[in-house]
Amino acid sequence: MEVRARAPGKIILSGEHAVVHGATAVAASINLHTTVSLLFSSDNDNMLQLNLKDMALEFSWPIGRIKDTLPDFDAPSPSTPKCCSIESLRAIASLVNELNIPEAKIALASGVSAFLWLYTAIQGYKPATVTVTSELPLGSGLGSSAAFCVSLSGALLALTASAGLDYSNQGWATYEETGLDLVNKWALEGEKIIHGKPSGIDNTVSTYGNMIKFRSGELSRVKSNLPLRMLITNTRVGRNTKALVAGVSERKLRHPDAMASVFDAVDSISKELSAIIQTPANDDISVTEREEKLEELMEMNQGLLQCMGVSHASIETVLRTTLKYKLSSKLTGAGGGGCVLTLLPTLLSGIVVDKVIAELESCGFQCFIAGIGGNGVEVCFSGAPSS
Ligand code: PMV
Repeated sequence: MEVRARAPGKIILSGEHAVVHGATAVAASINLHTTVSLLFSSDNDNMLQLNLKDMALEFSWPIGRIKDTLPDFDAPSPSTPKCCSIESLRAIASLVNELNIPEAKIALASGVSAFLWLYTAIQGYKPATVTVTSELPLGSGLGSSAAFCVSLSGALLALTASAGLDYSNQGWATYEETGLDLVNKWALEGEKIIHGKPSGIDNTVSTYGNMIKFRSGELSRVKSNLPLRMLITNTRVGRNTKALVAGVSERKLRHPDAMASVFDAVDSISKELSAIIQTPANDDISVTEREEKLEELMEMNQGLLQCMGVSHASIETVLRTTLKYKLSSKLTGAGGGGCVLTLLPTLLSGIVVDKVIAELESCGFQCFIAGIGGNGVEVCFSGAPSS
């Protein structure tokens, strides 16, 4: 039987950078997914195979080699998420180093390590083929690594006793709360291998979907009552999140009072934005009015991100281009390149959307239209059940 799990990417609607200094931020899932297919092998080839379809890369390991390198998983315990120890990480690195990943794709090595950890710790030494496909661009702040860890954990846990799946919907099944919590914890362990010390926001949004408000390390789920559509423009300019975060901290040291006011203003924007999004749909205030308020808040947040010094010429080009069509935009994530969000109001004509996309693409940018705040991880089964 084949198990497939898909998990969404994320955007930060408001509050990036300021959140590092104690302000509120709001993140949301987007309906662009990473999908993992898991097929246990019945032909006794005793291999574990990983196919990264979009990269045209295939890796495989004899199960015996994995067992020799990571000897503790004869009886894996899927219901107890485990942190990968330094020794296990070293052992996994030796398996990954043997793969001779092409230099241009070496950034994938930590993702392959996360795969080996999650697979072995959850499923032990079962031969299988795991295939990964993704609609998310890598390393541009849309949470691609978290979507990978969440969809992988979702697929690996789906056939275990601890799964807790809810089949009430046709097609894709969702996890019940306890199952979601488990997927999220395993995914965080994968994210730690890839990122060192992740905040946990990306995997939380990808697991539970919808929207998350976060402040000082505290995450709370927000139920959106406003279906939103965004144009996401990937400037294709690579960014260094660590350096950008450090730059904002340095600016704060130089201008503590002014920057404190900037962070306070962002905090108010995030709170207002999440209140608007949660307003019940039947309230007097119309969808258009709410969209207009959100547009204004996005513009204000972008102005404050400029104050923090994290915009970039490529981001400014996107802002100028979308403004020509009276559309509001802000950067999302670390800035310095990466992705820009543009709200697409419900009543906006398709002709305008096509025009703005054509203009942005003519600048060399990549555009996606995404629904905001949809489901988190989902699972689907096909083929005969395994005995
Ligand atoms: O680009 P991303 O999705 O990694 O977002 C970075 C968000 C920051 O606020 C800049 C940093 C952080 O850790 O919150």
